[in-house]
Amino acid sequence: MKTAAREKSSAGSARPGSTGETLVRGGTVFTAADSFPADILIRGEKIAAIGERLTPGAAAGVVDAKGLEIYPGGVDVHTHFELPFMGTVSADDFESGTIAAACGGTTTIIDFVIPSKGGSLLDALAAWRKKAEGKAVVDYGFHMALVEMNADVAAEFPKLIRAGVTSFKCFMAYKGAFMMDDDQLLETLGLAKKHGGLVSVHAENGDMLTHLMKHLLAAGKTGPEYHPVAHPAEAEGEAVHRAVALAQMAQAPLYIVHLSCREALAEVKAARCRGQLVLAETCPQYLLLDDELYRKNGFEAAKWVMSPPLRDKAGQEQLWQGLRDGFIQGVATDHCSFRFQGQKDMGQSAFTKIPNGIPAVGDRVSLLYTYGVGKKRLNRNQFAAVIAANPAKIFGLYPQKGTIAVGSDADLVLFDPKKKGRVSKDNTHHNVDYSAFEGFALEGLPVLVMSRGRIIAKDDEFLGRKGCGRFIKRKGFDAQDWS
Ligand code: URP
Ligand code: ZN
Ligand code: ZN
Repeated sequence: MKTAAREKSSAGSARPGSTGETLVRGGTVFTAADSFPADILIRGEKIAAIGERLTPGAAAGVVDAKGLEIYPGGVDVHTHFELPFMGTVSADDFESGTIAAACGGTTTIIDFVIPSKGGSLLDALAAWRKKAEGKAVVDYGFHMALVEMNADVAAEFPKLIRAGVTSFKCFMAYKGAFMMDDDQLLETLGLAKKHGGLVSVHAENGDMLTHLMKHLLAAGKTGPEYHPVAHPAEAEGEAVHRAVALAQMAQAPLYIVHLSCREALAEVKAARCRGQLVLAETCPQYLLLDDELYRKNGFEAAKWVMSPPLRDKAGQEQLWQGLRDGFIQGVATDHCSFRFQGQKDMGQSAFTKIPNGIPAVGDRVSLLYTYGVGKKRLNRNQFAAVIAANPAKIFGLYPQKGTIAVGSDADLVLFDPKKKGRVSKDNTHHNVDYSAFEGFALEGLPVLVMSRGRIIAKDDEFLGRKGCGRFIKRKGFDAQDWS
């Protein structure tokens, strides 16, 4: 991701002691709820004790965390590694994608299984598990995308939940490919309610988008600058409104993925204020990048073609406010990377052929720290909440993941709040030829990242082992956390 020169941090020895114990000594711990100076004793894969001046066994390894902030390992609940999509396959696989995640301070990801129509969901899950096994270097789970609804899909629903896949994504966009209609959405919401799952939606009105695309192309408006014109905020606001109404009717909780604009946020707020259980994530790109990028850059604008698209700058502060107010609970990346040369340029003749998505999984934590904590938009506990605790709670990983507590997995990010860097394609771990956040200055970088007690990254260098990530069976959705 970031530092041009890899200056070494002082954070100490890279191996647990011979007893399998490691003491992380002298840092300041930040969780979503607390901030306190403490030593952390790790035994095996778990946190065994937290306290001041802990005395480890003589053979324990010691990590010096003096002057460092310690956060729970980041949890990114929205990635697309090795995804077949729009005539190509996303460029990061489970190895490069999770190495980027690890070096950037993320120790758990949840990716999306996208089954084909007519196929078994459990078979699709097996195929996605095969892509990840032996490659992923951080722990991972899966959401199941639903691209149709029928008796076979319904029959597999409880089996998926038992397999630890407890969340289901429905697309209200991508007409003719993944899009579901309202009847199918209602059916899905009912099933999720019955079996204890959580439905998430890609909320854009697919008919509106298809209509706009058709007219733009017919008028010869084929460049990437027309992608946002074909994906207006009204289409997102309308879809969120409709999804909320459907969830209300089904009496089911609802999660909005990659919320990008004030229109969508207003619908979420209104629903929450009425007492409805609607949760949402946004992404670093919607908080930090804006639609000027489409106007200035000729075909290079294709680098930022994603759905929903970037919005106007004025809306960004409202998204930050939404995070502070708790109407948006988490920041995920929607990492779906494509090389500019050879993939994004498949859409030279028409913006509708540009594979949608950007690389971001390695950049999320430091961007949020620099532009959230550093700019006083979030305090450190809110930062821990939005990058780790809330996503872990929403998706059935908490308290195994998302916090620093006795008994939790020892997934830790030791953060140097003063260390500076810059996001650049020249030092990215993403398997692409550009960075969506090129040139963004960073202040506050992870200097040591631990996954289940093992150091997997130090000073932006990957120190883990290919395949050391583990599939995590997630619990069902717990409404009590949010009522
Ligand atoms: O542009 C995006 N978001 N690509 C990934 C697929 C999706 O819609 O999440
Ligand atoms: Zn989506
Ligand atoms: Zn996505």
